[in-house]
Amino acid sequence: MTTLAIFASGRGSNAAAIIERFTREEELCVGLIVTNSPKAGVLQLAEAHGIPAHVTNRREFYSAQSLLPMLHEHKTDFIALAGFLWLVPEVLLIAFPAKIINIHPALLPMYGGKGMYGQKVHEMVKAAGDRESGITIHYVDEQYDNGEPIFQMSVKLTTTDTSETIASKVLQLEHHYYPEILVQILTNKK
Ligand code: GRF
Repeated sequence: MTTLAIFASGRGSNAAAIIERFTREEELCVGLIVTNSPKAGVLQLAEAHGIPAHVTNRREFYSAQSLLPMLHEHKTDFIALAGFLWLVPEVLLIAFPAKIINIHPALLPMYGGKGMYGQKVHEMVKAAGDRESGITIHYVDEQYDNGEPIFQMSVKLTTTDTSETIASKVLQLEHHYYPEILVQILTNKK
């Protein structure tokens, strides 16, 4: 069995897509969900699927051991960030080399970096008049949205697109491709 931990800060629609996709892979499982917000919708998702969940805080997350004991207790092989807004501490990057993966709702290196998340990204794409946007799935390093790219997919935009319709088009790509790419990586097909 290859086990994934998902870190999420928000509603968890990407986490839901991953969990659903992994139910169709007998050698993959989601073993733990970690959030930094006690109000995160992803906690209800974890409960609905019977997946252990943990609410962390900055003191714990950036402590010397961070979440290592808990990640090992839950047999974690890979970590997927799905709307997780904090930088990953070095202790986790060292413990999980090339095994922490993130999805960003834009075509990096454009529109990435500190503070570039959620609707802000799509508002900037709209303001720039770009004719395409998309997703970037990448390995996580010590900076925001900076690690080695794994996969990108673009979507065409029209002048009638708003930042909301851009967000919707990009989210559809996320929900389709993030689970598929994670399955490929975790089953050594990528
Ligand atoms: C997604 O847009 C993802 O690209 C970004 O954070 C958002 C998470 O949304 N990293 P959700 O919580 O998975 O619905």
